[in-house]
Amino acid sequence: DIMREISDLDNLETQLLNVLPVHKVKIVPGNSDEDDEVKALLGQAAAQELSQRVQDNSIVTVTGGSTMAAVAHHMNPIDQVRPLFVPARGGLGDMHEYQASSICVQMAKQMNGSYRLLYVPDTVGKDIYSKMMEEPAVKDVISLIQQADIVIHGIGDALKMARRRQADDEQIKLLKDQSAVGEAFGYYFDQNGKTIHQLNSIGMTKEFLTEDKTIMTVAGGSSKSQAISAFFKWGSTDVLIIDEAIARDLLTHS
Ligand code: BG6
Repeated sequence: DIMREISDLDNLETQLLNVLPVHKVKIVPGNSDEDDEVKALLGQAAAQELSQRVQDNSIVTVTGGSTMAAVAHHMNPIDQVRPLFVPARGGLGDMHEYQASSICVQMAKQMNGSYRLLYVPDTVGKDIYSKMMEEPAVKDVISLIQQADIVIHGIGDALKMARRRQADDEQIKLLKDQSAVGEAFGYYFDQNGKTIHQLNSIGMTKEFLTEDKTIMTVAGGSSKSQAISAFFKWGSTDVLIIDEAIARDLLTHS
């Protein structure tokens, strides 16, 4: 019954807390690969965790993806709290509705907050790229990303993300040859957490993920299990919001 299911998930959360280097684990029932409702639950749970941590002067930096879109969808205004949202990275070749900037705008709307965006196209040559990096408007936003209090982000399966971003055959081959399993913030990494490839976009780099920030990682679906385990070797997080399918896989493999 439902009560048993809930206490079972509580149990899973406690067990995972013991084996993962995180401060909090939140698990929603089901497998988002099989059921879209589960992604909505994930979004709801993450939105709730975020609202517990966000303050009036908070800067929240956010990545793209369908999971983050679900988080945005479930955010609500909080009295006297008007956070500032910034995309963690400029475009990464995702579809418009999954781009960090679109999600940023939606999050700001849902919370009556504000936003700043990175107006830098995906594919520019090196010289234009470095010129743009000198633009005050770009520099400003990058410094906001660096100052962010909260980072909320998704994780992807490496090949799935590369295909979604229309990577060419050569890139796909590189990822396959080097056994990339996961992707976060435009970095592709293998199961040992080694970076295989980093996308040429501006914004947050791994070095920005410092201890003073609250990092929130949201992911669901058993197809991401490997990516999540690898993520813990590549980087770290404070709050992990996952679905039951990933939770069980993480437990069996740790
Ligand atoms: C992308 C982020 O937009 O979404 C990636 O830039 C992330 O870093 C991905 O891996 C996750 O996508 P989804 O749709 O599975 O939430």
